[in-house]
Amino acid sequence: MNETMKNKNANSPNYIRIFDTTLRDGEQTPGVSLTTEDKIEIAHQLSRLGVDTIEAGFPSSSEGEKKVIKEIVKAGLDSEICGLCRANRKDIDAAIECDVDAVHVFIPTSPVQMKYAVNMTQEQVLSATVDSIEYVKQHGVICEFSPMDATRSELPFLKKVCQAAQKAGMDRLNVPDTVGIMIPKTMSKLIEELKTVVTVPISIHCHDDFGMAVANSLAAVEAGATQVHSTINGLGERAGNASLEEVVMALHLIYKLKTGVNSRLLYSTSRMVATLTGIPVQANKAIVGENAFAHESGVHTRGVTVKPLTFEPIKPELVGRIRKLVAGKLAGTSGIKAELEEIGIHPNEEQLKEIVQRIKDLGDKGKMVTDADLIALTSAVMGEVIKEEKIVELCDLAVMTGVKVIPTASVRLVLDGKEYVAAETGVGPVDAVLKAITKLTHSLEKIRLNEYRLEAITGGSNAVAEVVIKVEDEKGHIVSARAAREDIVMASVEAMINGINKCLLKNRKQGNKK
Ligand code: KIV
Ligand code: ZN
Repeated sequence: MNETMKNKNANSPNYIRIFDTTLRDGEQTPGVSLTTEDKIEIAHQLSRLGVDTIEAGFPSSSEGEKKVIKEIVKAGLDSEICGLCRANRKDIDAAIECDVDAVHVFIPTSPVQMKYAVNMTQEQVLSATVDSIEYVKQHGVICEFSPMDATRSELPFLKKVCQAAQKAGMDRLNVPDTVGIMIPKTMSKLIEELKTVVTVPISIHCHDDFGMAVANSLAAVEAGATQVHSTINGLGERAGNASLEEVVMALHLIYKLKTGVNSRLLYSTSRMVATLTGIPVQANKAIVGENAFAHESGVHTRGVTVKPLTFEPIKPELVGRIRKLVAGKLAGTSGIKAELEEIGIHPNEEQLKEIVQRIKDLGDKGKMVTDADLIALTSAVMGEVIKEEKIVELCDLAVMTGVKVIPTASVRLVLDGKEYVAAETGVGPVDAVLKAITKLTHSLEKIRLNEYRLEAITGGSNAVAEVVIKVEDEKGHIVSARAAREDIVMASVEAMINGINKCLLKNRKQGNKK
């Protein structure tokens, strides 16, 4: 493999390489196990995103892993494809067999890991380091080397290993903060120390045990590291790795440094990884969390509506997002006005005041104000039924569930005036029916369920169930809706169809429809 082709940016000044390890360290996230298809899909997306290296996996870990890595290599992506290996020839052979562009060799160098994780002496670690790097280089492949647990290693020994690794031919030195114990100050110092003994590019690999993976990665860059290991959504062992989206945006906007990443694809990539790994993104996560570009309080909504810079340090479009003004008890008049105008509703001043008051009353009762609530109370205040054509209507529904029966649902919907039927199975009747609905409505737009909440059940077995859902379209627009019924399945169906209708209508009104 041509070593220079895929590393074309490595020597440009102000360029920081992004080494993505979502498919390796990210897959080590407890509870995550990706299929071959999932890994290939994510690899394609990472390459489109523009990461410099994709660490595709750990070739010697299983035959299945080797097969996936081979497939990813065969896909001919723009990113360099790398395989992780312990410092032994067997692991390296497995990676070479996959025809990877780069091999990432690691070996522990801290006293605790040398003794208790691999039971090796310093001499054995040194000799395995040298032998394995020389072996990789004999195959003409890029070699990145990691002294694992570098941040808990004795500095003189760490330096000795790094010097020996450089002499043996390593192309990049990666410095793992394996258990995330650094702070920015100690990290900068360590990188400065290592720069006195190696001349190859230095990379950083931080874990988030103390919530400092991103800050420590940036400190390493300040001290001269030119590559950052990171994962989408910050996935990874234990508390995870440095989050790629946070590192990249900080590098671009705060440090004014360049990466190969197309930031506009960050949100869609995050969504894809969250869906395929089954690990949801917390709402208040920077860049990709649901609330990262949402504003509720009056001061904020008025500010961003007039001048986005007031409360938006990052333009939402820059990371593939849109701004969301949220109705709630802290909402202000201008935010609600802007939200209503977006869907073509223009209340007069008096009406607007009353609408805002009713929203605040709902919020004070601890209720989440859904988009559907906003329309309903606006209709009531304006004294007119806000005509909402229904693009999707329920005609019929049947669900089957039981002890020995796989929960199954069939639904008949009218979509844009035409009738369609679909059936699906699920983990329960609600799951089955919502899947059947989205299966049908995907022909109009790919709107998916983003959140489902059973808000309240009051009373006995004939209690009223209140379901609040959020649905999301492909551009990340999120719409919320609610329904209350005695039957949980029906409440779920009604909320889902309300949400889908709101989303479709909003997009059609804004001429956004794909
Ligand atoms: O965290 C770590 O030390 C690692 C190594 C394999 C580099 O993931
Ligand atoms: Zn790691």
